[in-house]
Amino acid sequence: MDFTNVITNWYIDNKRDLPWRETKNPYLVWLSEIILQQTQIRQGLPYYNSFVARFPSVFDLAEATEEEVLKLWQGLGYYSRARNLHYTAKYISQELDGVFPSNYKALLKLKGVGDYTASAIASICYEEHAAVVDGNVYRVLSRYFGIDTPINSTEGIKYFKNLAQKLLPKKNIGDYNQALMDFGSKQCKAKNPDCANCPLQQKCVAMQLETIKNLPVKLKKTKINKKYFNFLVLISKNNKTILEQRTYKGIWKNLYQFPLFETLKPLTCTDFKNSPEIKTFLANSNYDFTLYNEKEIVHKLSHQHLYTRFWIVNVDALPKQGINIKNLDRYPVPILISNFITNFSF
Ligand code: ADE
Repeated sequence: MDFTNVITNWYIDNKRDLPWRETKNPYLVWLSEIILQQTQIRQGLPYYNSFVARFPSVFDLAEATEEEVLKLWQGLGYYSRARNLHYTAKYISQELDGVFPSNYKALLKLKGVGDYTASAIASICYEEHAAVVDGNVYRVLSRYFGIDTPINSTEGIKYFKNLAQKLLPKKNIGDYNQALMDFGSKQCKAKNPDCANCPLQQKCVAMQLETIKNLPVKLKKTKINKKYFNFLVLISKNNKTILEQRTYKGIWKNLYQFPLFETLKPLTCTDFKNSPEIKTFLANSNYDFTLYNEKEIVHKLSHQHLYTRFWIVNVDALPKQGINIKNLDRYPVPILISNFITNFSF
């Protein structure tokens, strides 16, 4: 049996029942695939269910405020996915009368839809001959065929896409694509793959050459930056605090946060007292402060690590307009802040 048939047969016995596999509705498939980028199925599933319950159609999603979409997305990370999701929902609803583009090329033009998502939607909903290549697929192909071209190099991306394309079956393309992804996440796992019970074992090049552990090859990422974040959690006598919206470009654009003071090294209590920026911010307020966490909370993002401290600042009155503390959970915030809010007893 060839590679493609083995994968197809494996899926018959091992297919996971997932709600987006019961439909060919492109809205639902699109939603699931955007949620599942950089996200494990176990983590993404509850988000998918909440989105479908709240926004059963693309029109419902288009009519929501961005704030509500970000709130529902809270905790999934990579928030540009949520902003693009909302942007594209509005575009499809307003410009295309709610009708999704029906082929790979047209899907690729949508904001937030790249080769992976366009191939997934086109194959699952329209049976188009488009191979999906995600992290799981890279792993299976690189091992089975013994390919050590880096998967994040221009050459590698092209090579693997071509190979995946050639391996597609004649029919049931959508099922096959999902089968290959499932095979990668359940059988040919990154760590501890189940080679002993693998139906591809006999012809797997990496298995024969004992190079499973070395594949796939990935080029090293650029240097990771360290940043020092200090959030000021103001608490006024009448139980108000300040949240500010991050309007500037970046991963957390449009999310809310406590007033942030970034420093070049960890801020000490003495630094806090003497900081001109903090003094200016708190000008005219009577305040005392405590450091909530001496040990920094390290929040790891793809290119930077955020060393974070929360400072509790009790004030008579806020230096600018605030919100009631009891309403804090209405605002979309980065998970780093949400965890603080949960753990800190206001
Ligand atoms: N990962 C992302 N989308 C998937 C899908 N449709 N099936 C299996 N794994 C996936």
